[in-house]
Amino acid sequence: MTQKVAVLGTGKIGEALLSGMIRAGWAPADLLVTARRAERAEELRTRYGVTPVTNAEAAKTADTLILTVKPQDMAALLDELAPHTPADRLVISGAAGIPTSFFEERLAAGTPVVRVMTNTPALVDEAMSVISAGSHASEADLAHAEEIFGAVGKTLRVPESQQDACTALSGSGPAYFFYLVEAMTDAGILLGLPRDKAHDLIVQSAIGAATMLRDSGEHPVKLRENVTSPAGTTISAIRELENHGVRAALIAALEAARDRSRELASGNS
Ligand SMILES: NC(=O)c1ccc[n+]([C@@H]2O[C@H](COP(=O)([O-])OP(=O)(O)OC[C@H]3O[C@@H](n4cnc5c(N)ncnc54)[C@H](OP(=O)(O)O)[C@@H]3O)[C@@H](O)[C@H]2O)c1
Repeated sequence: MTQKVAVLGTGKIGEALLSGMIRAGWAPADLLVTARRAERAEELRTRYGVTPVTNAEAAKTADTLILTVKPQDMAALLDELAPHTPADRLVISGAAGIPTSFFEERLAAGTPVVRVMTNTPALVDEAMSVISAGSHASEADLAHAEEIFGAVGKTLRVPESQQDACTALSGSGPAYFFYLVEAMTDAGILLGLPRDKAHDLIVQSAIGAATMLRDSGEHPVKLRENVTSPAGTTISAIRELENHGVRAALIAALEAARDRSRELASGNS
């Protein structure tokens, strides 16, 4: 039997997921989408050949509902869905910070819920998506969520208690790298390089370093030691990074992101 999947609130993340699923082989005929604005729904139909429906129709007809509205819009969406959603629907939330209990309290008793925290590299099929089961989600439900989010990158299962830490590491993670590139590009300008050349040098170095980290199987310390020769240039830079407490700043920054994620999850905006 064909499994129908609906993406509800198809904005940036929802569209990234939808396009990844189609590239990975899902038939557009099995994909439903919902949007708040009629022109957005038509845009998705034209671009992907998927079928726009109302939220209520999606709840009635799709086997799996993927909710990708902003966290502040989730309660209203669930109010709309609850009367139409049978308890055997798999509900996957892509919203940052909202616990599975939030969905379980608002949907029929026993509804399986899976929580996924992805990140913006989903737009280029290099997402890191962290997946947790709610109290009624089965192994098959988790595997289904992995299959869907696997279309736009890597997936990792964690207990829901680790979601706030994962939000700090991979959810916000791309922003830290963008910030580093920005700061290193400024340094290049200070050293007399034009901005565009400094940018290209840093971005390609970032891609090269990331590829080595992913593909070499080496520990990051080993990779760094390989380019740190005695009394050389790299160790002079590393000494300054240590003098300025960059390692401690990163640890404190991620701890702050984890704490903020906890606050938001507990409803304290
Ligand atoms: N972007 C990120 O960096 C990122 C990373 C990880 C996770 N996330 C999570 O992904 C989710 C989506 O983020 P996003 O950046 O993709 O947001 P987005 O572009 O604003 O997409 C959300 C879409 O949902 C639509 N919408 C809102 N209420 C609706 C309703 N009741 N029925 C149908 N459609 C509705 C919005 O319509 P309008 O266009 O009319 O507002 C919008 O198109 C969020 O929960 C966020 O926490 C985002």
